[in-house]
Amino acid sequence: MTTNATQGPDPEPNPHATEAEVEAALSDTKLAQVLYHDWEAETYDDKWSISYDERCIDYARGRFDAVAADQPLPYERAMELGCGTGFFLLNLMQSGIAKKGSVTDLSPGMVRVALRNAENLGLDVDGRVADAEKIPYEDNTFDLVVGHAVLHHIPDVEQALREVLRVLKPGGRFVFAGEPSTIGDFYARWISRATWAATTTVTKFGPLQSWRRPQEELDESSRAAALEAVVDIHTFDPDELAGIARRAGALQVDTATEELSAAMLGWPVRTFEAAVPAGKLGWGWAMFAFNGWKRLNWLDENVLRRVVPPKFFYNVVVTGTKP
Ligand SMILES: C[S@@+](CC[C@H](N)C(=O)[O-])C[C@H]1O[C@@H](n2cnc3c(N)ncnc32)[C@H](O)[C@@H]1O
Repeated sequence: MTTNATQGPDPEPNPHATEAEVEAALSDTKLAQVLYHDWEAETYDDKWSISYDERCIDYARGRFDAVAADQPLPYERAMELGCGTGFFLLNLMQSGIAKKGSVTDLSPGMVRVALRNAENLGLDVDGRVADAEKIPYEDNTFDLVVGHAVLHHIPDVEQALREVLRVLKPGGRFVFAGEPSTIGDFYARWISRATWAATTTVTKFGPLQSWRRPQEELDESSRAAALEAVVDIHTFDPDELAGIARRAGALQVDTATEELSAAMLGWPVRTFEAAVPAGKLGWGWAMFAFNGWKRLNWLDENVLRRVVPPKFFYNVVVTGTKP
């Protein structure tokens, strides 16, 4: 358990929410974030095929370099908002982005797992439970703030970016990646729903039944899906997100979008992985999925990028600096 100057001791994780808590969370987005992500924390890396090896180091670094290549490295002190299990910052640190890191998340369960992952990797990382709209660090603390797939969960994104700029040192940079574009989110959800329905239907029958997850796990996933609808608040048009960052006070704001055909493979792959029993697919599948993603990503960058407008791509990345 950690303590800090501006808030009391971090709360304990609550991975087994009661029905009453889930009911309350349906009309309280921050409670939903905590319950949903505390529930996911211990299995999150498996669910999303997150690792801390070359595969994910390259992936994380590619997202960073999409808007912030050619920066003088390493940054002295970096912080991640909405760190989850630490996927983005820990892999960026392994690629040489920063010497010291701080992982923060609204979910105590996620902070716990991120700190454990950092310790296993031998990285110099501390952590705190933190709401992005009210970051519990002093002004001018960090040289770099990063986040991956977090802004779309935050009710007041402009307020969160104001807080990011407050805790950055003058000249410090932020990089947020993995945010869903409005058009990308639309097709990803439809593809994912169809994949889930097809997988959970065909595995009801015959020899495919061994590929069916136990009913109680599927029921739990459905309850989680109800919370998911409460935790996913925004999708972003890249220009609008740049406007929010400028209104928050950022300079040198830039955005990029990534993944079109790669997202159309990635979403059904991840949904399929979540719909079948854990461990059924193995390393060979993970490599197939990653290599397929890499090839389609090449197609997106080298061919589709020339003919398809940026807002059709799935992921939005945004960067900016503190004056
Ligand atoms: C989709 S997960 C992404 C986790 C991780 N960054 C990754 O890419 O694997 C979003 C994370 O944001 C956290 N989160 C949601 N709302 C937040 C807020 N207001 N402040 C800080 N973290 C928040 C959630 O608890 C969750 O861990």
